[in-house]
Amino acid sequence: MTSPLKTDRPAPPPAPIQQLHHYAYRAKDAEETRHFYEDILGLPLYHIIQSDYVPSTGEYCPYTHFFFRLQDGSFIAFFDLGDDQAAAPSPNTPLWVNHIAFRLNSLPELEAMKARLQAHGIEVIGVTDHHIFKSIYFFDPNGVRLELSAQVADEFQMLKESTTAHTRLNEWTARKEQWRRDRAAGKVAAPLKPQQNDRPEVAARANAQKGPAS
Ligand SMILES: [Fe+2]
Repeated sequence: MTSPLKTDRPAPPPAPIQQLHHYAYRAKDAEETRHFYEDILGLPLYHIIQSDYVPSTGEYCPYTHFFFRLQDGSFIAFFDLGDDQAAAPSPNTPLWVNHIAFRLNSLPELEAMKARLQAHGIEVIGVTDHHIFKSIYFFDPNGVRLELSAQVADEFQMLKESTTAHTRLNEWTARKEQWRRDRAAGKVAAPLKPQQNDRPEVAARANAQKGPAS
């Protein structure tokens, strides 16, 4: 049975959630990670917590938890579990999917950060044009994919785009439900593709690079 699509949804009640407090990953080595985030990226080491027991669960797992501060007072944080083990990448998710993006104020700042990273020998992808913002991509020493983004669209444009988000997601959900039925019936095996393509220039570029079929 198809779930009802919400077309005139009421605004959700406001939540007192203000901003990112911190996002935490596993670090292979605290000093290697500190060098990258503090010396190269420019985020100061600001806080450290060390303990033998995990406060939330009570389990025994000695750790060094350390935080780097962003300009807005939020943090990116890491756990060194004292074993020199890196977090394994997700076995069923492409490397570019799971990532964290930090916002810069301008395109010149984005270009300057790209040059700064490259001067330290870090491989950088981009500048990539996402229309509403532009980004560069790179990996930290732990295999965490990072993105730096400079917003291009203003608040008005973002507000305008937000008015179509639910309609588009509902359309996707309805097609997904049909795809699940078709898959259960053995009619399809491939993943579902979006109906709309917001980035036709990327496909055109990829096809041009392939060149004529030999
Ligand atoms: Fe992103």
